[in-house]
Amino acid sequence: MGGPRVVLIGPPGSGKSSVGTRLAQLLGVEWRDTDHDVEKSAGKSIADIFIDDGEERFREQEAHAVAHALSEHTGVLSLGGGAIMDPRTEERLVSYVAAGGEVVFLDVSLSKAAPRVGLNAARPLLAGNPRQRWLELMEARRPVYERIATRVVMTDGLTPAAVAATIAEGE
Ligand code: S3P
Repeated sequence: MGGPRVVLIGPPGSGKSSVGTRLAQLLGVEWRDTDHDVEKSAGKSIADIFIDDGEERFREQEAHAVAHALSEHTGVLSLGGGAIMDPRTEERLVSYVAAGGEVVFLDVSLSKAAPRVGLNAARPLLAGNPRQRWLELMEARRPVYERIATRVVMTDGLTPAAVAATIAEGE
């Protein structure tokens, strides 16, 4: 099977980046992140893309970055928290799973995610009332995370290294 070895999905603060880097190390593969890919091709930060071009434009760039990474990356791939809400991305992930791919939903509660995302300006969608916004986003997205995932790992109380080891054991 081509494509990534493992795709990580989940809300902001679930540890997609910290778990992703450790998991890639454990598996001896490269780690890639669609947020970084979008920033690289746009030549600016996600916060600036939201300000200058708006969320819709960001979502377009994100959908392209996911499509690209799914077709050419063979290591661990972390997706931005909202990427799965694009129906094209969901469809691509469904095909990837049908071909034997693994998608892991990193579940987390607000109390554990909040200190990680905090008032981070790099997460414009959480601006205003970050806790309230996070809950709203998670409520809308949870069904999508759950239906796409081939595996769910509850990360509360686990270090990123422990989550990575759990995922690697199931490989
Ligand atoms: C977003 C999450 C961010 C980033 C963008 C939008 C979201 O990634 O893609 O700010 O919609 O939840 P992280 O999940 O890595 O924070």
